Amino acid sequence: MTPVSYMVGPKIDHTKHTMLRLETFDKDSYEELISWIGSEEELMQFAGPAFTFPLTKEQLETSVNDKNRFSFKVVNSITNVTIGHAEIYLTDHSAYLGRIIIGDKEQRGKGLGQQIVNLLLDFVFSTFDKTKVELNVFDWNVGAIKCYEKVGFVINPNKKIERQIKNEIWTAINMTIDKSRWQRLQLD
Ligand SMILES: CC(C)(COP(=O)(O)OP(=O)(O)OC[C@H]1O[C@@H](n2cnc3c(N)ncnc32)[C@H](O)[C@@H]1OP(=O)(O)O)[C@@H](O)C(=O)NCCC(=O)NCCS
Repeated sequence: MTPVSYMVGPKIDHTKHTMLRLETFDKDSYEELISWIGSEEELMQFAGPAFTFPLTKEQLETSVNDKNRFSFKVVNSITNVTIGHAEIYLTDHSAYLGRIIIGDKEQRGKGLGQQIVNLLLDFVFSTFDKTKVELNVFDWNVGAIKCYEKVGFVINPNKKIERQIKNEIWTAINMTIDKSRWQRLQLD
């Protein structure tokens, strides 16, 4: 199946002077995403247990063909360089954000993630009939949790998932944001 083509943005964050846009993630970008995932642990951190390390083009192709999944590359609108990846997954009751990554580790922790999440929320709330968005994130992933909290997500204490990785159990927490809350925060 050929995925629907979409583009979100550009959006200017006047405080950080960075402009990002979301574009359809296609075959040309598979190799670059694969190059960003260096270990089994990084793959689990990025995508949960859906993939097997090493990530392959075939696994990505299967994922892209899922009609409930919208996969984006994150592009710097000034340089046109792809800097990351992000996805939206629709269920009957909810929309999930996930598989969000900024490829260059040096570029993390500088506010780009918050811009990506806001672009994803903009896409969900303006495209689909959803009033709530959720995500799962490992409880030790402090930078990611802070990123989501700064956008307006709150921790849902009623939902947790445990994942086995090698000999360890990692716990993922669930975070949610309502459309009305996100829209209110956009006005601030
Ligand atoms: C998760 C990810 C996309 C977030 O993007 P990001 O650009 O790093 O996030 P942001 O900079 O917008 O927000 C993170 C915030 O937490 C802060 N932070 C980062 N690491 C931190 C830490 N260890 N402890 C406390 N705060 C931390 C940052 O300073 C920033 O806050 P600020 O805006 O007040 O400065 C990115 O870190 C990433 O690619 N991580 C690897 C893949 C991953 O874990 N994906 C998540 C899957 S659920």
